[in-house]
Amino acid sequence: MRMSEVGMLASSPMLLLLLSLIMASFFDTTAGQVGVCYGEKGNNLPSNSEVVDMYKKYKIRRMRMYDVNPNALNALRGSGIELILDIPNHKIDDIANKPMEATKWVRENVEMYKDVRFRYISVGNELKPEDLVGKETILIQAIRNIDKALSEARLSIPVSTTTYMGAFTDTYPPSRGRFNATYLNFLQPVIDFLVSKRSPLLVNIYTFFGYNDSKGKIPLEYALFTQTSGGERDSGYTYLNLFDANLDSVYAALEKSGGQSLEIVVSETGWPTKGGLDANKENAEIYINNLIKHVKNGSPRKQGKAIETYIFAMFNENDKGPQEYERYWGLFFPDKKPQIEVTNGFN
Ligand SMILES: *[C@@H]1O[C@H](CO)[C@@H](O)[C@H](O)[C@H]1NC(C)=O
Ligand SMILES: *[C@@H]1O[C@H](CO)[C@@H](O)[C@H](O)[C@H]1NC(C)=O
Repeated sequence: MRMSEVGMLASSPMLLLLLSLIMASFFDTTAGQVGVCYGEKGNNLPSNSEVVDMYKKYKIRRMRMYDVNPNALNALRGSGIELILDIPNHKIDDIANKPMEATKWVRENVEMYKDVRFRYISVGNELKPEDLVGKETILIQAIRNIDKALSEARLSIPVSTTTYMGAFTDTYPPSRGRFNATYLNFLQPVIDFLVSKRSPLLVNIYTFFGYNDSKGKIPLEYALFTQTSGGERDSGYTYLNLFDANLDSVYAALEKSGGQSLEIVVSETGWPTKGGLDANKENAEIYINNLIKHVKNGSPRKQGKAIETYIFAMFNENDKGPQEYERYWGLFFPDKKPQIEVTNGFN
């Protein structure tokens, strides 16, 4: 279409609307965007505004942060970067039991930042049954309180929680996947809530841990997306990599718990450069680059649908521990130099 024709079409408001919808869908490349988790547990990391500049420089359009940090939120203003913001586990009790706390949290940390693009609020990260003994309902209460506070502020931001592979059992073969019943005590009401809101469940998926724990029984190629033939057959699907197998085991588990309509966002994944079996820079680079390519196309159960994914993490974090492997997940070193060469960008 030549520009003059565009101009003629655009003279009608209806057509203008149509045109903008067509353009928007044509240019909507966000589906395959891979985000990066910005953990701050290091005493040598760049300033928040330098970090946001790095996201811009490397065209990383999505970020996950683990707690409120006003300096980081200020740096994100107007950036267009989409943010998953966590409410850390230790704050859940208060927000669950005092609706005023939820209102206050939303006012101070979301409403104040009208020019920050909040994608999801994650209430809690990898909560375990031991964290909630005798108070299994606080998670859903906190989620409801935050959701209500957001709608009272006329903000439509999905509220969810982040879980992890430890909440599932029988994950192999994937179709057998189901929730560990102890986790379901607090996750079942959350699943029902997410279904009613059509909001996704966030799940941290690390093939590295499965691979490491298998002591080499799982082939490295299966964990790094480099296997190209054969594969494991299961329920009519073929699995060439552990990432898909893990993800589809979560889909299978959701199906068995009334969550078959839910979408899963992979809220963390990565490969460390130190501290475990085949944890090194070379494998981390292979994993990350293959991951970015792979998630555009979906898992066997959701073929063709890009998987919204966040890499853990932006930096090596030297305040983490006590295990060595916890400190070496960075795409970048704290001096901003790349540790991992991302060869084709983040989409
Ligand atoms: C379920 O989780 C609980 C609590 O973490 C754990 O003790 C139990 O072994 C798990 N059950 C299965 C079948 O994995
Ligand atoms: C890797 O596996 C070994 C057992 O083979 C275990 O001792 C170690 O804690 C595991 N490391 C990680 C990072 O999971």
